[in-house]
Amino acid sequence: MNRKILVTGGTGYIGSHTVVELQGAGYEVVIIDNLSNSNADVLDGITKISGIKPLFYEMDCTDKNALESLFKEHSFDGIIHFAASKAVGESVHKPLLYYRNNIVSLINLLELMPEHKVKGIVFSSSCTVYGEPDKNPIDENAPIKPAASPYGNTKQINEEIIQDFVHSGAPIKSIILRYFNPIGAHPSGEIGELPIGVPQNLVPFITQTGIGIREQLSVFGDDYNTPDGSCIRDFINVVDLAKAHVIAIERMLEDKSDEKVEIFNLGTGKGASVLELINIFEKVSGESLNYKIVNRREGDIEQIWAQPDKANKVLGWTARESLEDTMLSAWNWQKRLREKGIM
Ligand code: WQD
Repeated sequence: MNRKILVTGGTGYIGSHTVVELQGAGYEVVIIDNLSNSNADVLDGITKISGIKPLFYEMDCTDKNALESLFKEHSFDGIIHFAASKAVGESVHKPLLYYRNNIVSLINLLELMPEHKVKGIVFSSSCTVYGEPDKNPIDENAPIKPAASPYGNTKQINEEIIQDFVHSGAPIKSIILRYFNPIGAHPSGEIGELPIGVPQNLVPFITQTGIGIREQLSVFGDDYNTPDGSCIRDFINVVDLAKAHVIAIERMLEDKSDEKVEIFNLGTGKGASVLELINIFEKVSGESLNYKIVNRREGDIEQIWAQPDKANKVLGWTARESLEDTMLSAWNWQKRLREKGIM
């Protein structure tokens, strides 16, 4: 019998790409999502790619009763927990929403796991836990700095909750994945990032400007201490990122490690600046992008990129897609959304 994986937030951006990879690797997937930041149409995109319609429940992870009946109905081997609120700026204005959604959700899942014999949980964390790095590339042992936002704080707290629970002797394992900046879309053009409202993140803003939905991209600062003055990030292809989750779940379920909690950076190991990314977009799309330099955005980190050696060696995972192909996938997805009349 196929192993059954619960994917929370499975209609979201990274979740949907991961569902496709899990299905491709032979896992049976059950998705729950409260659709607060995604749309059930994503299920059609997933089905078109994999040929398998995943079982879907509209459900909020903060609703423990609902989760409990789900755990009674299905016997899950593992969980990949994406469901969370993720807008940094919004978290500053609505901190309790972030603490409730992100922390209560995790606690509910952890509480249910032992009783229902769910062996492991893969947790979506973020490079945001590092704050402004003292040096780059940054590895998993770098000090965790005070969080710059309630959103970042929920990731730090959730990592600690997992560590404390597992080390208290709970019969579960966990792999914590710290994502750098996920971008791009599935090469099929069937799924991708679908921000609701004005995009906060760079790449959807670039592609929406390129296609004419937004008039102009604001580049937040060109006076940083970097070669071209704009911020540097480690932009990682979302399908590459999704594949790491399949490796992680298998590692836990097959007890490939003696450690009960493991942490991995998921990045390419290379930094690219905001202006470099704009150049790449212009090259692969053939469009010239309307942008202007404006003031720095509050809370932005100057530069951060991953030391992904641990994931490379221990998981046998490496980011493969080039930035060019990744930006092209993001652009194709944007064009596809227009063809479908969605945007
Ligand atoms: C990237 C760079 C901006 C928009 C955040 C979270 C992180 C993560 C991904 C989770 C920055 C610049 C952006 C724009 C710009 N995880 N920019 N104009 O802030 O690195 O990371 O999203 O969900 O946890 O903190 O990503 O895409 O917002 O910004 O110039 O209109 O692009 O200043 O330098 P960020 P981002």
